[in-house]
Amino acid sequence: MADPVLTGNTGSVVTIRLNRPEKKNAINRAMYEALTAALRAAATARSVRVVILRGGDDFSAGNDIADFLASGKPAGMQPVLDFFDVLAGFPKPLIAGVRGAAIGIGTTLLLHCDVVLATPSARFQLPFVQLGLVPEAASTLLLPAAVGRLKAAWWLLTGDGFDAEAALAAGLITKTVAETALDTDLNALAARLAALPPAAVRQTKALLKAPHRSAVREAMALEAEAFGAQLKSAEAKEAFTAFMEKRKPDFSRFE
Ligand code: COA
Repeated sequence: MADPVLTGNTGSVVTIRLNRPEKKNAINRAMYEALTAALRAAATARSVRVVILRGGDDFSAGNDIADFLASGKPAGMQPVLDFFDVLAGFPKPLIAGVRGAAIGIGTTLLLHCDVVLATPSARFQLPFVQLGLVPEAASTLLLPAAVGRLKAAWWLLTGDGFDAEAALAAGLITKTVAETALDTDLNALAARLAALPPAAVRQTKALLKAPHRSAVREAMALEAEAFGAQLKSAEAKEAFTAFMEKRKPDFSRFE
């Protein structure tokens, strides 16, 4: 079986690529662990100046729903929380390239990136409520800050999907690029940032994040508590089972 997370290194630029195309890059426990390890290694390697995070035809269909079904216990969430931790504190520029599905964590992780490029095929969605869950990765703080309270509430409550143009207009992504230009543009931008004075770059990123640092941690902690409770709920179980059984969920019996 192919490695579901591939890491490439040109010296100053590390590319982390989600590689589980048959599941639309849904992220399972092993992938969270691999992502965390790759980001930790890139954070500490002196030679690494920039990280590119990307998928293939899909960026990511979000957390693996089969894992959600299996992880009704708190320990099941630890690899996800470790990933959020390293993502939120990542000290070097993080550039994301999005094609296709960017769902759940596939969208919320973008809130921690410094540059986000997306192609016309990108489709963003935040269906936490539809799955009987609550948003994560500090998105209850960072999404309203990025796109405004009412748009954030709409996207988080309705779970409606939106395209790259809407994401750009709202301020969720940096720019749209042609399908064929994504690879070249990601690499060119990474090379450009990697050529800058590295300490000035790192300090600028840290200063940009400083005003929100403790609020981000606090939001993540509050979300994790609510998420953990919802993960064990009967309504979430109904949503996960319905997805696995490829049927519509029925929430009519819940209060
Ligand atoms: N968790 C687990 N498996 C997933 C998945 C996820 N988040 N997203 C997709 N898959 C699997 C499907 O079950 C399917 O597996 P199968 O081939 O064994 O049946 C495979 O990936 C392909 O997905 P499919 O639904 O057939 O493709 P599609 O093109 O019709 O739809 C999506 C693509 C991404 C729109 C759809 O798969 C989807 O809505 N996924 C769930 C997204 C989600 O709610 N994520 C959680 C957010 S918190």
